[in-house]
Parts: sequence; C-alpha cells; structure tokens
Amino acid sequence: MLTNIRELVYDAIARNYAVGAFNVDNVETTLAVVRAAVLEKSPIILQVSETTIAYAGLPVITSIVEHVARDSAGNIPVALHLDHGKSFHSVAACVQAGFSSIMIDASDMPMQENIILTKQAVDYAHRKDVWVQGELGVVKGLEEAMTLAEREPFMTKPTEAKKFVEETGVDTLAVAVGNIHGVVKLRKGSTHSLDLDRLDDIREAIPNTPLVLHGASGVSVSALQEAITHGIRIVNMNTELKLAFVGALRHTLTTDADAYDPRTIFTPSMQAVTDLVAAKLRALGSTGKANLTS
Ligand code: 13P
Ligand code: ZN
Repeated sequence: MLTNIRELVYDAIARNYAVGAFNVDNVETTLAVVRAAVLEKSPIILQVSETTIAYAGLPVITSIVEHVARDSAGNIPVALHLDHGKSFHSVAACVQAGFSSIMIDASDMPMQENIILTKQAVDYAHRKDVWVQGELGVVKGLEEAMTLAEREPFMTKPTEAKKFVEETGVDTLAVAVGNIHGVVKLRKGSTHSLDLDRLDDIREAIPNTPLVLHGASGVSVSALQEAITHGIRIVNMNTELKLAFVGALRHTLTTDADAYDPRTIFTPSMQAVTDLVAAKLRALGSTGKANLTS
C-alpha cells in the first residue's frame, strides 16, 4: 500500500527502529524488495536515483513502484523516495510524479549554496506536502575511499547541522559520520567505522530531525543497531542488493549455459535480493512493524 513516508518515519521514532530505504531499478528489483517486506511484515521505503530515472523513465519507474505497492504489497506500507536528487528540476519532476519524499543533495557545494538550493526544494515540495531530505557533510563514494581521519573534514558538523536545518526547513537529514557509499567498504581491510560521538552531537543539535544513514551496504548488523540507538531512523542500501542480484545471475548463467528465458534467469536473482533485504529488515528492527501505530 503506497503510504506517505512521514507515517513510516514517525512510527520508527515511536517504536525505536529504522526504516530500510532500498534502491530499486526495474520491475525485478522492485518485486524482490517488496516481497521481503511482505515476508517480514515490515514497512519499507523504495527509492530511485536520477540514474535509474534516466534508465527507465520517470513515469515507468513510478508506475512500477505504485503498482507493485498496490498489488503485491497488500497492506504493507511502501513509501516512494527520490535518492540523491541533484537539481531542482529532478526534484520538481518527482514531486509532480507523486513521490512522498525527495532528497536534494547539494552536499558537494559550499554550505551557503547548499542551503539556498535545499531551501528552494523545500519551499516547492512542502507546498505539495512532500518531505525533503537534505545532506550536510559529504558521504563519499567508491572512488573516494579514504581513512576515517581523511574523511573527517567532510563529516557533518553538529553546529552547522543546526543552522542548516533551521534555514532550510528539511524534514530529514543525511549525515556523514564515517559512512561511505559503494563497494569499497565491502573489501577486506577497509575502514568504515561510524563516529557515534559525532552522531550523538548531531542528534542533540537537531533533536526533532530524523537522521538518515547512507552507504549502509556492508555495515555490520551490530554497527547498524548501534547507529539506530544513536538516532538513525532511515538506513539506505543499494550496492549490496546489486551484488546479490548479479552474483546470482552469474551463478545461473554459468551453471546453466543453455538458459535463455529472462524469467528463468532472473528468478534466482530476485530471490537473492529478497533474502538479503529480509535479513536487513530484521537487523533494522522493522520486522513486524507493518501496522503503523502513529
Ligand atoms: P550503498 O550503495 O553503499 O549501500 O549506499 C546506498 C545509499 O546511500 C543510497 O543513497
Ligand atoms: Zn546515498
């Protein structure tokens, strides 16, 4: 059941867990993620990126999510969110398309420019009752893997977070507390521990703003659960889902060289994503929370 993201996040606050936000790209991954939510009786956020919108087309990916949420999710709450919107144009398009939440990510701009663009997105989205996620500090990516010390200058500063939230009016905030995007942290020996003291200070500075952890692929169950006790309410995962899908696909194609029917080939990949997402939902404490209380 397509549901406003606000209801999911308020419930996560009330019952002290985090909502999983999973990137979907096509009908296969959308079905796979929603099946996990149904199995776990868990609310869920489906998010699409600008590159997915470029790949599938906004009306197509929107209607895939809407129809899967309506027909396959039953009464499981499913919210639709734009992940890492980089321009006012893409934010506005998703607001028009019926998303209940959008992210405007101007985190690589100087703080004042980030505030201006984010505020512009907030003013537009709030007129349509759509939530906005901003990002302050930069969650670095695959190609920018650094040590925790090297990442420190890019981390969210609590005093700036307060100013940012006050001046923009964002509903949720993506924080950089040592988390990074992509596969690099899944490699042996990489460092990606979270700065929980910083997370505490951010939470204290903006106690009414739900915090979002990006780059959660590869973050251990214990680290995720610790982050939740320190105020994280939305957890974003993408890379691990892709690795699960493609890993199963490679296995299928190598073990059955004659396979040619996409439905046969994709079924084990979808199952792999469902199994992975179900385990993540359990880790986030959102299993069994489908009947929202707030
Ligand atoms: P990962 O790909 O590292 O899981 O990050 C996902 C994310 O932050 C999406 O916004
Ligand atoms: Zn992200």
